[in-house]
Amino acid sequence: MSEAVANSVKLAQRVQRIGVSATLAVVQEAERLRARGVDLVDFGPGEPDFPTPDNIKRAAIRAIEENFTKYTPAAGTTELRQALAAWHGRELGTAYSAAECIVTVGGKHGIFNAASALLERGDAVLIPAPYWVSFPEIVNYVGARPVPVSTDEANGFRLTAADLERAWVDSTRMVILNSPNNPSGAVIEAEEAARILELCRRRGAWLLTDECYSHFVYDGKPFSLAALPEAKPHVIVTGSLSKTFAMTGWRIGFTLAPEPVVQAMNRLQSHSTSNPTSIAQKAALEAVTGPMDSVGQMLDEYRRRRARILEGVRRLPGVRCAEPRGAFYVYPNVGEWMRKSGVGSTTELARRLLDEARVVVVPGEAFGTTEHIRLSYATSMERIEEGLRRLEQFFSA
Ligand SMILES: Cc1ncc(COP(=O)(O)O)c(C=O)c1O
Repeated sequence: MSEAVANSVKLAQRVQRIGVSATLAVVQEAERLRARGVDLVDFGPGEPDFPTPDNIKRAAIRAIEENFTKYTPAAGTTELRQALAAWHGRELGTAYSAAECIVTVGGKHGIFNAASALLERGDAVLIPAPYWVSFPEIVNYVGARPVPVSTDEANGFRLTAADLERAWVDSTRMVILNSPNNPSGAVIEAEEAARILELCRRRGAWLLTDECYSHFVYDGKPFSLAALPEAKPHVIVTGSLSKTFAMTGWRIGFTLAPEPVVQAMNRLQSHSTSNPTSIAQKAALEAVTGPMDSVGQMLDEYRRRRARILEGVRRLPGVRCAEPRGAFYVYPNVGEWMRKSGVGSTTELARRLLDEARVVVVPGEAFGTTEHIRLSYATSMERIEEGLRRLEQFFSA
């Protein structure tokens, strides 16, 4: 697009407040190289490399054959809302009703609508760093103010109530948690979660907990903040079937929240997206009522890959890496290597890795830290081995 065309269109303020994802430049360049037939090892993807389980796919095919192809209620079918609330209760120990559950077009949509329903212009939203790129952008879009909260790398980037308390400002209206965390893999322990909840309760702020990686934890069991005693009036759970059931393209997520919040989100949804796709809703129903074996199988495979990639990146000179306790990312610190090599930013490093080693990583600047890169191990063991070989050559050169 020419500059003249770009300047001729006056865009609304609210959309000017958000940027294109900082990761996009590297991804676009990787696409260009791939199209030219260049053999890349791609540690970029934020999605499972597994196919959607067969039972879920069959449920969608059945839905089409049975003509379940029309509008549904904007908040999703009552059957699915009930099933999601029950599944969450069984898996994570919460007690939500269908009326406290809304089906969304992916987990991101739930965060977007909850933020739209609850935040006023100027409200501060505390977001622990490193954070998923869309959190600050959504907050910016609705006119609120993202406030990054530093976490301690030596503590595996696990947020503490003390970290939050230090960053608290008078206008704080919401805290966004993401455990297991993208990009660091950090998992907040139940006792700390209780302290964080207590802080939010005392100070009158919402606690939005993005639990889209809930089932990918390597020590202990999946956990929801909303299962803590007396949590429900203060907590908004945004969940997703994208990662848990390898369903990223189906676009089904859900939000569990006090009824007035769900109703406000429903109003918003009824005038924007309307219902999530009817066919995908039937697939989702099968996911949360059918067998869960495939989730355990994926977790076992991720566990194997995590051990290998962690060992591999920790062996790279000038690189250290906190142990990720969940999700499917490692987030190594490359600061020492960068200082020795005169590389000024992780964006520059990611660019060089792409050009010289043919390896795709996501620069930490996208996630609010300056010395890290994110590697996803949602790729085969064979590609992980090849990628580690290339990284070793690059970092040792
Ligand atoms: C932390 C986090 N939250 C939410 C999402 C959104 O998932 P979806 O909209 O596909 O359900 C992602 C996807 O990468 C994520 O990493």
